[in-house]
Parts: sequence; C-alpha cells; structure tokens
Amino acid sequence: MAQQVRGVIARAKGEPVRIETIVVPDPGPGEAVVKVQACGVCHTDLHYREGGINDEFPFLLGHEAAGVVEAVGDGVTEVAPGDFVILNWRAVCGQCRACLRGRPQYCFDTHNAKQKMTLLDGTELSPALGIGAFAEKTLVAAGQCTKVDPEASPAAAGLLGCGVMAGLGAAINTGNVGRGDSVAVIGCGGVGAAAVTGAHLAGAGKIIAIDIDDKKLATAKKLGATHTVNSRSTDPVEAVRELTGGFGADVVIEAVGRPETYKQAFYARDLAGTVVLVGVPTPEMQLELPLLDVFGRGGALKSSWYGDCLPSRDFPMLIDLYRQGRLDLDTFVTETIALEDVEKAFERMHHGDVLRSVVIF
Ligand SMILES: NC(=O)c1ccc[n+]([C@@H]2O[C@H](COP(=O)([O-])OP(=O)(O)OC[C@H]3O[C@@H](n4cnc5c(N)ncnc54)[C@H](O)[C@@H]3O)[C@@H](O)[C@H]2O)c1
Ligand SMILES: [Zn+2]
Ligand SMILES: [Zn+2]
Repeated sequence: MAQQVRGVIARAKGEPVRIETIVVPDPGPGEAVVKVQACGVCHTDLHYREGGINDEFPFLLGHEAAGVVEAVGDGVTEVAPGDFVILNWRAVCGQCRACLRGRPQYCFDTHNAKQKMTLLDGTELSPALGIGAFAEKTLVAAGQCTKVDPEASPAAAGLLGCGVMAGLGAAINTGNVGRGDSVAVIGCGGVGAAAVTGAHLAGAGKIIAIDIDDKKLATAKKLGATHTVNSRSTDPVEAVRELTGGFGADVVIEAVGRPETYKQAFYARDLAGTVVLVGVPTPEMQLELPLLDVFGRGGALKSSWYGDCLPSRDFPMLIDLYRQGRLDLDTFVTETIALEDVEKAFERMHHGDVLRSVVIF
C-alpha cells in the first residue's frame, strides 16, 4: 500500500522550502523503497530551489543520503529489505554504448524509479537527482541503492552519495591525481574540501586550497591542504604559480561553478596539466577564453559528473577506508539537523558556516 510520509518540497523558484505530506508508492519492478536515515544538504538542492537546474517544480529535495531498504519490487536481486545502502544518482543501464565499452561510469542512460511520488492531491513530484531523500521514505530504482558496511555512521556514509564523492572522484578519477602531483582546488565547500581529501589520499605532493572564506580554508588544511590562499585578498593564479616554481599546478579542480573561477583554474594550471570542472554552472553563464591559449597551453579540460564514480566499485571501498580511519568523512558533518531545518541550512550555506548540514531522521 502507498505510504504517506513527510518530505521537503520546493514549490516555486526562490520560494522557501516547506514540509509537506508526500505519497510514496509501493516499489514496482526494479524499484525499492528506502527508509532514509540521513541526508546531507548539498548546494545542488539550492540550485534546484532557485530554478538553476530546470523548472520542473515541485521538487522533492535531498539526494545525499543513506538508509535502510524497506521493500523491493519484482525482479530486484541486488538489494534486499534490511540492507544498509547509500543512494546514488547514477544507476547504470549496462546496455548503452558507454556501458558496452566497459566504461559504465560514463553511462549515458542512467535511470530512476519509473513510478512517481506525489503530493496528496496527486501532483507529481520531481525528486532532486532522481532521489528525493529529504523525506522519511523515498522510492528509487534498485540500482540507485549501493550496499555498504552497516557499521558506518549514516550521516557520514550518506555524504558519499553526492558532494563528497563528487570531490573525491574529481581528484582521484577525473583528475587522475598521482603521487607527487601538485594540485590546486578552487572553492573548498563540501565538494572542494572532498577534492582536497582525494588529492591527499592519492599522494599529491602539494595541495593548494583556495577559497574566499578563511573558515573553509582552515578545514581544508585539516583535511590535507599544504597551502591555503584567500582569493579575496590574494590573486589565486599568481599564488599557485609562486607555490609551484612559477609554473602552475598539475591538476586544478574548480569546485565553485562560475566563469571567473574557471578562468582562474585554467591559468593556474601548468602547461599540459588538467583542469577539472566539478562546480555546476547555471544556464546563463558563458565562458570566454582566447582559443590560442586553449590550444597553446595543451593538456586536458575535463568535466566531472559525480567524480566519474562507479557507485558499486567506489562506495564500499571508500566506506572501508573510512572505517579504517584513512578517510575522514566525519569532518564534513558540521552539524546534524531536523527535517524542518533545511531552509535554515540553505541560509547557513550562503554565509559559509558549514561544510555539510546533515538531516538526521
Ligand atoms: N559535478 C558534480 O557531480 C557535483 C556534485 C555535487 C555538487 N556539485 C557542485 O559543486 C559546487 C560546490 O558545491 P558545494 O556543495 O561544495 O557548495 P558550497 O556552497 O558548500 O561551497 C562552495 C564554496 O565555494 C566558495 N566560493 C564561492 N565563490 C568563490 C570564489 N569566487 N572563489 C573561491 N571560492 C569561492 C565558497 O566560499 C564555498 O566555500 C556547486 O556548484 C554544486 O552544485 C557538483
Ligand atoms: Zn549505460
Ligand atoms: Zn549534491
């Protein structure tokens, strides 16, 4: 029987979110209902609320979550009721041209639950990134559930479901940071701080954290940054060059999502180095660069969706590293909050007070 639970809804562009009753159908074939235990507040939720992703309101926000599978539909074999899972927003299809070439992390046909969750009056909801986990329960495709060690704290584990995985993967997978590389990270919120952590885990020699907020820089230092630059007062391109023998960093990760910070990343990179764009721009943003510089400076300009992760490969491995004390996820959980406090958490995000506010159920 369909269930009624509380969820955080964004009704219209820029309007404060509010809690409403939502209807969660029983899982159909290939689907699962998950009892959410923890869900982090990601900047992408705010992008949805502000109409920056698309205008398919009303949105059921929340997508950085861990919980326990409550029920599964017909044909589901990968997870069972009672499993502790992290929700992922890229359930791979196994059949598209990327999957068939053995590159499922680039799957071009990822999927979500087929049935819709609704408001009480039947209005269909658009779940953020096909998840919608600021809700006591949510309906997802079974492939969006990745089973991990149930000993991990849900608040920390859930963060791998989006921002922290995006940042770790931007460094490890997309940027392919290796031992001894120099790395700069522009924007050290949840995603950028995770990129710092990923660079540290991968053995980078120099890790330069750049932000306009000293609190974020202090946390980045704790997570492995060797140098910090406040780009409000210091030109970040000059600073990175100075710290790298005048050349620039091997890998520069942009975790803000703005043309001006992308340009900084482009010019703070050594010749033949790699720029990774993990910050998400909004539709009106345009980038202008001299094409001769794009050509002449060589190297790679890459985008990173979800850190090019493969949830089935990366989530259990990263949770194991966390359990061994080699990956600090707890530092990312600045505060735990109630479902009612998501709007306040958006405000705190604007003020730069938190790495992650995590809703605990
Ligand atoms: N590619 C992906 O798969 C993926 C996944 C999750 C989030 N994101 C995106 O990553 C970006 C960061 O997300 P977040 O959750 O870390 O956000 P956040 O708000 O926690 O962090 C943004 C950080 O950027 C800093 N910043 C802002 N303007 C700056 C500037 N001009 N120069 C330097 N630093 C600046 C802020 O002080 C803050 O610390 C967002 O655009 C988000 O949508 C991408
Ligand atoms: Zn595919
Ligand atoms: Zn996110």
